[in-house]
Amino acid sequence: ARAWRGVVEEYRDHLPVNEKTPVVTLQEGGTPLLPAVRVSELTGCDVHLKVEGLNPTGSFKDRGMTMAISKAAEEGAQAVICASTGNTSASAAAYAIRAGMTCAVLVPQGKIAMGKLAQALVHGARLLQVDGNFDDCLELARKLSIDYPVALVNSVNPYRLQGQKTAAFEIVDALGDAPDIHCIPVGNAGNISAYWMGYSEYADDGVSSRKPRMFGFQASGSAPLVNGEPVTTPNTIATAIRIGNPASWDLAENAREGSGGLIDKVTDRQIMAAYKLLAAEEGVFVELASAASVAGLIQAAEQGLVPRGSRVVCTVTGNGLKDPDWALAGAGAATTVPVDAQAAAQALDLA
Ligand code: F0G
Repeated sequence: ARAWRGVVEEYRDHLPVNEKTPVVTLQEGGTPLLPAVRVSELTGCDVHLKVEGLNPTGSFKDRGMTMAISKAAEEGAQAVICASTGNTSASAAAYAIRAGMTCAVLVPQGKIAMGKLAQALVHGARLLQVDGNFDDCLELARKLSIDYPVALVNSVNPYRLQGQKTAAFEIVDALGDAPDIHCIPVGNAGNISAYWMGYSEYADDGVSSRKPRMFGFQASGSAPLVNGEPVTTPNTIATAIRIGNPASWDLAENAREGSGGLIDKVTDRQIMAAYKLLAAEEGVFVELASAASVAGLIQAAEQGLVPRGSRVVCTVTGNGLKDPDWALAGAGAATTVPVDAQAAAQALDLA
């Protein structure tokens, strides 16, 4: 077996690159497709988790960023900019460093997880905390990329979705065909659109015999696609998907309609319950936004929308280590003991 080379080299034939494209990679992709025993039991389905938190910077964004930064390099860009709820900025900062570019990031002040902030800073990004929400940040980033020589690497950059579609390829390659249903968190709505593109391409090329129904899930306080109108002051504990006016609105609706799927909402309480279940019963530590896919699947199964025995893939989008505050908040305090076996045994209820 040869080593994994990153999504551009692995799926070069399906991506808009050529011999002149300098491939900027951290060897992203190739993430586990993990059987989820407990979620399968709960839903009566054959459920797998696509564990995207195991990408180089800890989220699925790396798949899109390798493409966006490689193409920016091909076009001679020396600086990139993005708006972010945290993961895009962490990824952009890391890939910009690999490309020898500078990176500017705009994040909503006080509304991104500490680990993500740390990533952008440690990779040397110029970070501005904007007194506004993600939607405001994206508008600013778009304006700056028009007026100044900085390339926009948000998912409105079409190369981002091209890279992100490779996750769907990996799933089909692993399962031998597309699943019946694919569940995914929805924020700015790029990723659901990218998966649909990937599944559709593989079906059109005859690699798979079918396409899955796409089930997208937003947080109930930030559910513009479900409500059918933008949310001016989006709110949710899942800060990664705290977005009121998704850029890929139309593409996400296409994915829903084209696949006979749905876009629904789950409450913060449901998200928290799924987050805890994944950690405590599957051994998978994800960030809150990521748990929306599993919370949504459980809800849809309870509503009778998921035929028993269906093969389901849930993307869990980001790593739990990015935002440990929530894990600590839900856990009891650790006990302190002296260097003494008896005391340790007692504290552990072994004695
Ligand atoms: N899950 C995580 C962990 C995310 O970081 C994001 C988006 C999503 C899900 C939703 O994906 O936007 O393609 O619908 N994060 C972006 C960011 C907005 O700036 O990091 P989407």
